[in-house]
Amino acid sequence: MKPRVFLPAALAAIFAAGVVFSEEIGDAQAGAAIFSQCSSCHEVGEGARDRVGPHLNGIFGRNAAAHEGYRYSASMQRAGTDGLVWTLETLDAYIENPRALVSKTRMSFRGVKDANDRANLMAYLRTYSDNPSDVPEAEPTALATDHDLDPAILAIQGDPEYGEYLASECLTCHQRDGSGEGIPSITLWPVDDFVIAMHAYKNKLRPHPVMQMMAGRLNDEEIAALAAYFKDLE
Ligand code: HEC
Ligand code: HEC
Repeated sequence: MKPRVFLPAALAAIFAAGVVFSEEIGDAQAGAAIFSQCSSCHEVGEGARDRVGPHLNGIFGRNAAAHEGYRYSASMQRAGTDGLVWTLETLDAYIENPRALVSKTRMSFRGVKDANDRANLMAYLRTYSDNPSDVPEAEPTALATDHDLDPAILAIQGDPEYGEYLASECLTCHQRDGSGEGIPSITLWPVDDFVIAMHAYKNKLRPHPVMQMMAGRLNDEEIAALAAYFKDLE
């Protein structure tokens, strides 16, 4: 498919005038080309509507799952209720690997792995903010940062017996059968997804004070052990 590069008049005028206000994030014009990976599902610009995915005008500073009338997944709604706000950092992490931030998101997209491509894409999306100047030009942590976990962490073989020992505290909230008001099931998850989710809390990418505290107390081996235990827990 030929990438569709959509450059509205206003944006073109800005480039023509040589004003590149988002220089610090990335190159908005290059980002327009990257957006062709999103445009089969998302619209942006004047008259943009919700399609397969919600439109992305004014995305910065907005709560996750904020469009009335769009049917978000339960995970995305929970993230929004927990207080997930789209900033350079959270958006960067979500675009790199959607499931890392919202485990069961309905956005089936493998992610943009190249940090520069993501920076350019965000510079492009920033031009559709109500107040682009309100979006910080650079959050040092957000630029060219890989949020993907170190493969060495993912490679740790967890000890399920140790995991069982650690899990008793978790099971005071997370019910074995997956029931439990507002508390998601965490059994039978692929190990990688589980480990990535725990580290996202630990690194405070995912909001939720209780889980941030729980994960913050665990080291890499302990998280691997829990993942190994919950993986097979029926
Ligand atoms: C295959 C379709 C598809 C593609 C491709 C896709 N998305 Fe999505 N996107 C979705 C869906 C569906 C949702 C809603 C997810 C949910 O409810 O869990 C979503 C949600 C989002 C959200 C959260 C919006 C909100 O209102 O909270 C952002 C931000 C986002 N996508 C950005 C992008 C970007 C940027 C790209 C390209 C790099 C992209 N998406 C590619 C389908 C897609
Ligand atoms: C005090 C109650 C409580 C305890 C204890 C607790 N959790 Fe949680 N956990 C929650 C809640 C509430 C959520 C949903 C948070 C959210 O919306 O992000 C959650 C979310 C999660 C998720 C992400 C689920 C998803 O669908 O994305 C994982 C994984 C998880 N917990 C693992 C653990 C592990 C492992 C332990 C023990 C070390 C633990 N939790 C202890 C309440 C708890």
